[in-house]
Amino acid sequence: MAKPNLQVALDHSNLAEGIADAVAVGYEVDIIEAGTVMLLQTGSEAIAVLREIFPEKTIVADTKCADAGGTVAKNCRDQGATWMTCICSATIATMKAAAKEIDEVQVELYGDWTFEQAEKWLEAGIDQVIYHQSRDALLAGETWGEKDLTKVKKLIDMGFRVSVTGGLNLDTLSLFEGIDVYTFITGRGITQAEDPAQAARAFQDKIREIWGE
Ligand code: 5RP
Ligand code: MG
Repeated sequence: MAKPNLQVALDHSNLAEGIADAVAVGYEVDIIEAGTVMLLQTGSEAIAVLREIFPEKTIVADTKCADAGGTVAKNCRDQGATWMTCICSATIATMKAAAKEIDEVQVELYGDWTFEQAEKWLEAGIDQVIYHQSRDALLAGETWGEKDLTKVKKLIDMGFRVSVTGGLNLDTLSLFEGIDVYTFITGRGITQAEDPAQAARAFQDKIREIWGE
């Protein structure tokens, strides 16, 4: 089982603060995300600045795109994004249009998606999904548990590379022991730590402890 990647999500409402955290942790993580909050607040320039600083990194634009997939994807690619996200309720046409313009599309799983829909994403050539516990659901008292592990395992068995995200901390990672998670995406667990670089290293150490190199 390969070591899962660590992705930092930059969900800052201020570009300078987001970039400062990117500089602090960019070389500690495997993938950098221009988060939805930052993209909505500061625009796609955030992607261009990240690409300038990190020419070799995989950069994800977490657009949660619902429509106009081709245009959004082209704009993200032109700014330097490698991958982008579409929301699971987007049509297959939107996802396919996006996939034509950018290296890869990831489907963000929120709400009432089905495994039948997931089969259609695979048929469309999209094999990355992001299993998400939403920030608002977590704030409302939702927790990570067996129901999530069951769905993540089923998606992996179907052939998806599955990223996992939503309020992750070092303890949450242990829940996924023995599961072939592709990437753990962490925002506040890194960016709101007193020392973000040290927090990113702690996530990487924990991932290595559980999954090996
Ligand atoms: C929210 C997101 C976040 O980027 C993702 O959930 C990671 O953030 P955090 O670790 O702070 O929950 O896409 O919709
Ligand atoms: Mg995100």
